[in-house]
Amino acid sequence: MYNIAIDGPAGAGKSTIAKLVAKKLGYIYVDTGSMYRTLALACIRAGVSAEEKDKVVDVCNSVQVSLEYVEGNQVVRLNGEDVSGYIRNEEVGNMTSAIAVYEPVREILVKMQQKIATEQNLVMDGRDIGSVVLPNANLKIYLTASVETRAQRRYKELVEKGVDCDINEIEKDIEDRDYRDMHREVSPLTQTEDAILVDSSNMTIDEVVEKIISYV
Ligand code: DC
Repeated sequence: MYNIAIDGPAGAGKSTIAKLVAKKLGYIYVDTGSMYRTLALACIRAGVSAEEKDKVVDVCNSVQVSLEYVEGNQVVRLNGEDVSGYIRNEEVGNMTSAIAVYEPVREILVKMQQKIATEQNLVMDGRDIGSVVLPNANLKIYLTASVETRAQRRYKELVEKGVDCDINEIEKDIEDRDYRDMHREVSPLTQTEDAILVDSSNMTIDEVVEKIISYV
């Protein structure tokens, strides 16, 4: 199997790039963030708060997360239900970053991710793919962009959606999130020694995709 690991901070464009690279190569794209988000949704639905570690772990152990591919797109299921439409909001996002620090929670998903990688050619993105999930990946990319660039991209996205926002606040949020992701105790975001650094600050999406394909 050929496995490509893409890690990097929030807003670097990982999912956009990973999806396109996978499509070009005919590989599947595994979005690990959505797997963590699905377990967070299960906790919210069970009425458990993030601080109740034992209960969180119980809920995560008692539900089933599965991935399916419909026309090349990943569909994530919680006990068989397609929950793709329920996991991309603030409430779930906050719960996700809170429960993603628990080792037993990560273990459940890491095992699943490792199994998929033995069965399929894939592009997998997240924070700990090159370091923990697929340390022997054929290609590891650390995709980043400057804080200013990531803030501008996010600002543009929100303005297009008609959301009123302040670029300085967005920059501050990104800096805070980077700090949390890089300094947490369990599986922090780091660039492994064997990962290729791609800084997308001054590159178009196509240029980044082409660059990664050239390494393949
Ligand atoms: O990439 P995302 O925004 O969907 O990730 C949601 C959260 O899950 C984010 O707080 C980081 C966490 N996450 C993680 O800890 N490990 C991964 N492999 C993927 C995501």
